[in-house]
Amino acid sequence: MRFPCYDAPVKGLKEADLARGADIYIKNCSGCHGAYGQGNGPRRGIVGPPWPSNLVAEEPAGFFSPAAQMQIIHGGSPGTSMPPMARSLSASQLLDAYAHIVSLRGGALPGQ
Ligand code: HEC
Repeated sequence: MRFPCYDAPVKGLKEADLARGADIYIKNCSGCHGAYGQGNGPRRGIVGPPWPSNLVAEEPAGFFSPAAQMQIIHGGSPGTSMPPMARSLSASQLLDAYAHIVSLRGGALPGQ
């Protein structure tokens, strides 16, 4: 079953810079989420629980739309170690990093 509200897309994703996104992801996200987004980065053991999400799982743990995931990336997840990344990275850097996550998933956005 599909829930249209969970399919809310991220605007501008097609124009994102994937190479730059990979670099930003490796420097800022992979320590927790792992080099390939599986939630198994070297910092995993010290930042959880809750553990860093597997960003490439077929069934995303949080069942968030792409737009909602982007909101979490910007604002963090209160009460967890997921930091508000908008404090240190620009909106376009975060868009590029998100595009990299989508490419790690094989290009498919959740729900598609
Ligand atoms: C210090 C560790 C840490 C860093 C660094 C970090 N995250 Fe997270 N992230 C987490 C944790 C822990 C969660 C789970 C939060 C929860 O359970 O609510 C999470 C959740 C998320 C989610 C929500 C996934 C879902 O569907 O449940 C996304 C998307 C995400 N992170 C992306 C990123 C991106 C992109 C970066 C880098 C720009 C990043 N994170 C950096 C720890 C981290």
